[in-house]
Amino acid sequence: IKSDAKAVGQWVGEYIAARINDYKPTADRPFVLGLATGSTPIPTYETLIQLNKAGKVSFEHVVTFNMDEYVGLPQSHPESYYSFMWKHLFDHINIKKENVHILNGNAPDLDKECRDYEDSIKKFGGMEIIIGGIGVDGHIAFNEPGSSLVSRTRCQPLLHETRLVNSRFFDNDINQVPTHAVTMGVATVTDSREVLLLVTGHNKAEALSRIVEGSVSHWWTASVLQLHENSTVICDEPACARL
Ligand code: GLP
Repeated sequence: IKSDAKAVGQWVGEYIAARINDYKPTADRPFVLGLATGSTPIPTYETLIQLNKAGKVSFEHVVTFNMDEYVGLPQSHPESYYSFMWKHLFDHINIKKENVHILNGNAPDLDKECRDYEDSIKKFGGMEIIIGGIGVDGHIAFNEPGSSLVSRTRCQPLLHETRLVNSRFFDNDINQVPTHAVTMGVATVTDSREVLLLVTGHNKAEALSRIVEGSVSHWWTASVLQLHENSTVICDEPACARL
């Protein structure tokens, strides 16, 4: 538990940098990092950018896989997760473009896109570490309440509530928010050898208490992390209001 969101980002950024630095990459075994969007990981990305600029961590042998992407939103749209990731992280660090993987929500065959994504993660030897946030309803990536805890990467309809919450990025107009997303499944996330869950802000207090102190349930999909051997929740004090 850290005091605020900035302190969470500082800790997580330094932790990831240390894990990358400790890793001995080979040509066919780069460091595979799972990444998330949303406002929660932004302070983490700011820390990673600072550390990279200061020469304290290099992304030369890092391969990334993002958790999710909207369906049907052009890649160039400012709210696509593709745009988000380049704006908040990739444009500012020494990562190779070919090492960045983000699901294509405009692929002609979305099922194939999702299958290929799973195969690609496996080809690199699986994720070493993944960071994720949660929705106010406890969703991880875009695994809405009710998603199977053994789900894999797939196309998902978004709940009305999620579209309403995310409409703040779309001129507060829910009609502009895509109705579907492609997302890593719950089991895709938990296949990662380590999972860091970042939870900040008072609006996540109910979800955090359900996930950490409630039972493992597909109604609060991030609660599955209780069964993971190497997962850590890094949260701020406001998010702990209901613990
Ligand atoms: C979206 C993303 C999630 C993210 C959530 C919370 O739904 N698909 O991965 O955790 O937003 O976003 P924020 O961090 O802005 O609260």
